[in-house]
Amino acid sequence: MSLKIALLISGRGSNLVAIQEAIERGELEAKIVLVFSNRPTAAGLEAAERLGLATAILDHTAFSTREAFDSELGAILEACQPDLVVLAGFMRIMTAKLVDRFRGRMINIHPSLLPLYPGLNTHQSALDAGDEFHGASVHFVTPDVDGGPVVAQAKIPIRSDDNAESLAAKLLVEEHRLYPRILQWIASGRLQYQGGEISFDGSKLNAPLQL
Ligand code: GRF
Repeated sequence: MSLKIALLISGRGSNLVAIQEAIERGELEAKIVLVFSNRPTAAGLEAAERLGLATAILDHTAFSTREAFDSELGAILEACQPDLVVLAGFMRIMTAKLVDRFRGRMINIHPSLLPLYPGLNTHQSALDAGDEFHGASVHFVTPDVDGGPVVAQAKIPIRSDDNAESLAAKLLVEEHRLYPRILQWIASGRLQYQGGEISFDGSKLNAPLQL
């Protein structure tokens, strides 16, 4: 089965490119049916067009309420009937109503070892805390921001000469490996999320997989 993906971005779109390249290499049995951006100037939109992917833009600044924006975004997403909504640098907090419309079918990548550092500035937070490791987490989306069940994480050591930029750059390489791999597990049915529980190869997942 080929997994139909709607991908949501707000910026650069490097994860989007990594996912599409994994599809083109035959490592991910999926099709990106739509790349959506809430920012008309997102560089990822150009990347999507170069890759021949369908795009849609809804400028959130044109909406007076979060509810109105989310209701239209929900309609756009439902129109392309995705099996999975993949957030890849989508910098918008979504209403519970929108998240619930796609509960169990929406996944995100976050640049920290969740539950550490939800929200922004994760690299600096890891440095400020004196952490030994930093990482990225892939998690199903629930109405709690960056709070849904974590499927898998990739870890990197923090070196004494690291700064927020160097950590972000090193972590991005890991993100580009991690995300397509998890998506393939969903495409192949190895990874499932139902009723708030994740199962992997038929067994309940009690802790995030470390990759
Ligand atoms: C990544 O670091 C991702 O973890 C976070 O936003 C960034 C998106 O980067 N959610 P890109 O737009 O995929 O290059």
